[in-house]
Amino acid sequence: MSGKFIVFEGVDGSGKTTQLKLLGEELRSRGYEVLCTREPGGTRVGESIRDILLNPAFNDLSPLAEAFLYAAARAQHVERVILPALEEGKIVLCDRFVDSSFAYQGSGRGLEIPLLKKINEPATSGLVPDLVLILDFSCGSGMDRICRSGRRIDRIEGEREDFHAKVRSGYIALAESSPSRYRLIDAGRPVGQVRRDVLKAVEEVLK
Ligand code: TYD
Repeated sequence: MSGKFIVFEGVDGSGKTTQLKLLGEELRSRGYEVLCTREPGGTRVGESIRDILLNPAFNDLSPLAEAFLYAAARAQHVERVILPALEEGKIVLCDRFVDSSFAYQGSGRGLEIPLLKKINEPATSGLVPDLVLILDFSCGSGMDRICRSGRRIDRIEGEREDFHAKVRSGYIALAESSPSRYRLIDAGRPVGQVRRDVLKAVEEVLK
C-alpha cells in the first residue's frame, strides 16, 4: 500500500471538517494527490445508511444495530473507496473512522470494546490509519457551535450532554493508549493555530 491514511476524529462541533478541508487544500497545493471522504458516508450506500443513522425519527435504534450500521457503511467505504485510493498512492483524508465507533458506540453507548473490534475487523479489512488527529473540544462548546450554525440537530447530536462528555473521555483514553498513532489537538483555539498543529503532525507522517 503506497498511500497514506489520515483520519480526523473528535466530538460533534469540534471543527474537524473545516480542518480536513484546509489540510486537503494545503497538501494539494504541495502536489500531493488527495482524496477527502467521510464516515458514515463516502459511498452511495454509505450516504443512505448515514440518513438512517442521523435521522432523529429513529430514536429507538438499539446500540448494537447502530454499531452494525456504522460498520456496514464502513465496509462499503473501505472496499470501494479507501483501499483503491491508497493502492493508487493517494493521501486519503477521512472525516471519522473506526475510532468514532469506539468513542460513540463504546464509551458513549456502553458497548464493549472487544465486541466493537470484532464487528469492525472485517468492516475495515484490517486497515489501520497512519495517523489519527483527535480534535479535542469541550462538548458544551461544541454543541453551542452547532446550535449557532442554525442547522437542524441530528439524532446523535441530540443526545444529552453527559453522552458527549463520555465520548470525549473515550477519545482521550484512545489517545493515551497509543501516542504514536493518535495526536490529541486542542481545538478550542483559533482555526489558524489548530491548522498549524495539524500540519506539523501530518508532515511527520509524510517524511
Ligand atoms: P459527522 O458527520 O462527522 O458529524 P459532525 O460533523 O456533526 O461531527 O458524524 C455523524 C455522527 O455519527 C457523529 O455524531 C458521530 C457519529 N458516529 C458514530 O457514532 N459512530 C461512528 O462509527 C461514526 C463514523 C460516526
